[in-house]
Amino acid sequence: MSYRITINPSGHTFNTEAGETILQAALRQGFPLPYGCRNGACGTCKGKIIQGKVNFGSHNDDTLTEIEKNKGKALLCCALPLSELVIECREIGAIKDIKIMKFPCRVQKMELVAPDVMTISLKLPTNERLQFLAGQYIDILMKDGQRRSYSLANAPHDDEFLQLHVRNYLGGVFAEHTFSNMKEKDILRFEGPLGTFFLREDSDKPIIFVASGTGFAPVKSMLEHIFHVAETRGNDRDIILYWGARTKADLYLAELAGSWQQKYENFCFIPVLSESLQTDDWHGRTGLVHQAVLEDFDSLSGYQVYACGSPVMVGAAQTDFISLRNLPEDEFISDAFTPSPADKKL
Ligand code: FES
Repeated sequence: MSYRITINPSGHTFNTEAGETILQAALRQGFPLPYGCRNGACGTCKGKIIQGKVNFGSHNDDTLTEIEKNKGKALLCCALPLSELVIECREIGAIKDIKIMKFPCRVQKMELVAPDVMTISLKLPTNERLQFLAGQYIDILMKDGQRRSYSLANAPHDDEFLQLHVRNYLGGVFAEHTFSNMKEKDILRFEGPLGTFFLREDSDKPIIFVASGTGFAPVKSMLEHIFHVAETRGNDRDIILYWGARTKADLYLAELAGSWQQKYENFCFIPVLSESLQTDDWHGRTGLVHQAVLEDFDSLSGYQVYACGSPVMVGAAQTDFISLRNLPEDEFISDAFTPSPADKKL
C-alpha cells in the first residue's frame, strides 16, 4: 500500500511503496533526510510523527525508548507507515544532487599502518569518479550479498584513489577478508556515496572533531578538504582534533595529524590514549577522548562538533556535550560505527 508523507516544516511530500521505510522512500525520491546506520542503532534518523500511524519496525531499544515512542518519536530508517503521515524532521540540502551509484574498483594498494589497521586504496575504472562530500561512506558489496560500510578517508578533490581504513576484528566479514585473503589488484564492488556525516560549510563556527580509532578516517577526509579549500578561499574557522585510541600504535596516522598542526595555524591536534603501554612512553593526554573535551571547555555553545567512532564514545559525547556544555543539538554531527550483523561501519 502506498502512503503520502508530508515533511514539516518544509512542506515537501513523497509517497512510500509497500514495505518501504520512510527513509528509503524519502531517499528514493531525492529528499535527503539525515541517516547513518540504516538499521535502528545510531539514532541519526530520529524524527517525529505529527499525524498518522507507523509500525516502528525492528530497532535498538536504547536508541528509541518506549517513552520517546509515546511522545511521537520514530526512527525513520525503521518506521513503516500505516497511514498517510505528517512527520517532522530536518532535511539536508547539500547531498541532494549527488547520485548514489554502484561501481567496480580495483584494490590498488594495501598498507598495514597499525597492527590491526589496514589502509586500502581503491581505483575506479578509467574516466569514472565518485562524487561525494567529505565525511561520507561507501558500502562494500560482498559476493554473498552482504554489505559492509566504510568511511572514505580521502578528500573529494583527491579522488584518483579512494582510501578506506579497515580495522581487523573477530567476525568482521570484510575486515577478515582484507587481512587474510585480499591482494592488490583484486576487484571489489561498492555502492556510494552514503551518509549525512559531512562538513557543514555554511557555518563559520569553530570546529571540534572527536574521533576514536578508525573514526579518524572521515575526519581526515574533512580536514584535508578544509585545508584544500582554504588554499583558495581562506578559512577563518579554528579547528581542534581530539583523536582517542587505546595505545600509541592505534593512533596510526598521528604523524600526519602532527604535520597539519605544524603547517596550519588554526589547527590543533590533541591525541588521547586510554590504555597507554609502558613502552609507549606517553606524556600526552590520557583517559576517554570525549572527557578530554569536557575538561578543556566550560561551554560549547559557540562550537560545531563532529564525532565519529565507537557508538559508546559518540553517544557519551552527544549526551554530555549537549547537557553539560550547552552545545546546540543541531551542532552535534555524528557517525557511530555501529556493529550490527546487517551493516557494520568500522
Ligand atoms: S537509527 Fe536510523 S539511521 Fe541509524
